[in-house]
Amino acid sequence: MKSWRSIAIKINNTSVLNCVSVLCEFFKNSNIGEPLESARYIVAHALNKKTINSCPSTEKLSRPQLEHVSKMVDLRLKQMPIQYIVGGWDFLGVELDLKPPVFIPRPETEMLIELISNRGITENSKKFFEVGCGSGAISLALLKKFKNLTCTAVDISHEACSLTRLNSLKLGLESRINVINRSFSDYIRNPSANEKFDFLVSNPPYIPTSQLSNLQDEIKNYEDVRALDGGEKGFDVIEQILSLAPNIIKNDSSVWLEVDESHFDIINDYTTDKNNLKLIAFEKDFLQKYFTFLVVTGYI
Ligand SMILES: C[S@@+](CC[C@H](N)C(=O)[O-])C[C@H]1O[C@@H](n2cnc3c(N)ncnc32)[C@H](O)[C@@H]1O
Repeated sequence: MKSWRSIAIKINNTSVLNCVSVLCEFFKNSNIGEPLESARYIVAHALNKKTINSCPSTEKLSRPQLEHVSKMVDLRLKQMPIQYIVGGWDFLGVELDLKPPVFIPRPETEMLIELISNRGITENSKKFFEVGCGSGAISLALLKKFKNLTCTAVDISHEACSLTRLNSLKLGLESRINVINRSFSDYIRNPSANEKFDFLVSNPPYIPTSQLSNLQDEIKNYEDVRALDGGEKGFDVIEQILSLAPNIIKNDSSVWLEVDESHFDIINDYTTDKNNLKLIAFEKDFLQKYFTFLVVTGYI
């Protein structure tokens, strides 16, 4: 395998297009995931553009730009996810800053926003609660889309709360979000106010502990384990949410969760037998793999 040094010489004084193809080949040979996307984002970022399509393909990279490429390639060779390398990502048209170890929003979560937008928000929806805001992806996408909404978001991670606050400021949404660095159960024990919310949303950690070691190195080495580890069956935080949500949401309001398909049966049992929760629907995501589901509480 050729070293990065010899490749760097090859891309010296070449066009954007050539640089992308040389980098892509190098990443492939180095067994780096998503080689073409990685090459495209790295070159675009060095040119201070969001995507490669906005870069003139025949433009040549300057020396400082090549040095920037070089630093980013080093990080990618260490398996750092591209979202952390370029420091930001577009989530449903919302530009988010991203920093390790805060969870990188996943495409399937965009579908959760679409489901809530189409089926969960009524004229009466004023405020919602998010468990585990991470970078702020869910809360900020909803606040940006629905101008009358406000929200309270909790996260056990200090880094996640700081990033959500930073992203809310950058998007001019800071006056409509209250970010609290606490676990959900702590918040329920000591709520900031006796507020009741119109709906609750969460993409909680839901991977069973025993499966964490099977995750890609990119995930294991860079993302906060608290964002992934859902306990023995992956159900610990989901169970907390299902049992405690009725304390803070109004009657007949909804809980929207992203869960793993292995939770289908547990959730079915849980919602019919306990807590006066009624399961309304499971939805498959676009990969037809994971499930997002919604329940209505209502003390039925
Ligand atoms: C899968 S990430 C989701 C982040 C973000 N909502 C998204 O979809 O990109 C789960 C988040 O929940 C937080 N978290 C885990 N357990 C929690 C708990 N008991 N209470 C509050 N937040 C929790 C983690 O720190 C992490 O930021």
